[in-house]
Amino acid sequence: MIKKEVRKAVLPAAGLGTRFLPATKASPKEMLPIVDKPMIQYAVEEAERCGIKEFIVITGKNKRSIEDHFDSAMELEESLKKKGKNSLLNEVQRLDHLHFAYIRQRAPLGLGHAILCSKPFVKKEPFAVLLSDDIIDPDDNLFGEMLKCYRRYQSSVLALQRVPKETIHRYGAISGVEIRKNIFKINDLIEKPKPSQAPSNIAIIGRYILTPDIFHFLESVIPGKDGEIQLTDALKSLLKKLPIYGYLFEGRRYDAGDKVGFLEATVELALKNPEVKKPFREYLLSLKQRLNPR
Ligand code: UTP
Repeated sequence: MIKKEVRKAVLPAAGLGTRFLPATKASPKEMLPIVDKPMIQYAVEEAERCGIKEFIVITGKNKRSIEDHFDSAMELEESLKKKGKNSLLNEVQRLDHLHFAYIRQRAPLGLGHAILCSKPFVKKEPFAVLLSDDIIDPDDNLFGEMLKCYRRYQSSVLALQRVPKETIHRYGAISGVEIRKNIFKINDLIEKPKPSQAPSNIAIIGRYILTPDIFHFLESVIPGKDGEIQLTDALKSLLKKLPIYGYLFEGRRYDAGDKVGFLEATVELALKNPEVKKPFREYLLSLKQRLNPR
């Protein structure tokens, strides 16, 4: 069997972002900034650190600014150059070596449908999917570990994380056997289970490495009541034919698609940002004192 490397990453970004309305009425959720970078850039940089250079962004209505963000900005770059603002210029040009393709999802018919839209670009290669509203701490190497797992088993790999049982209904949950430290062979998946019916508190989070077999199963998914094509349904069908593995992530993930998670990401990533960490920490300490005066 010829071993194929993962070279492409799909970034679904066509959702409506209703939890952030009215901010997302005319602007993409994926462009909301955490400190000084839009959410989607964290996902791009995470994949880029592991050698991915080709990105396929699934966009929809009101998502033009994503294309502009990853494009050159001649006037801005000229002006930064003239003013000698070289570090800002480097920052703006840092991702210029990457290639971006954009595909419109005509209607937000679910994550599974968004991924299916990438089929003509992905073709017959294994590929990654990164959801930009799950932000992984840049000091953790979840994606690198998933790639190692893919290379070892040449099968689809899901990112997993233990979550409090009472929140498992927000995720897909798995049952499986831990075959090596943090690596699970998956036996079953269930989308958004009631906590009493969940097979475990191990949730699927927003990073996937998928073999192109998934497209066939996505094409066969019957849309749910809401008309959406769920990725979990296709993964369940895939699992009947081929093995699926999971990598249990024990680092820091922010669910930035949710307001509180977004605020947590902002605070914690600001505390790591060289430019603002010192004054921001001082502000937080003074805030703590104001909230809990002795
Ligand atoms: P979410 O489940 O967070 O949905 O999608 P959403 O529409 O973005 O946000 P809410 O729940 O209404 O607040 C997870 C990821 O999948 C993409 C989203 O853009 C997001 O990055 N997605 C979702 C699509 O690309 N297409 C879809 O049809 C649905």
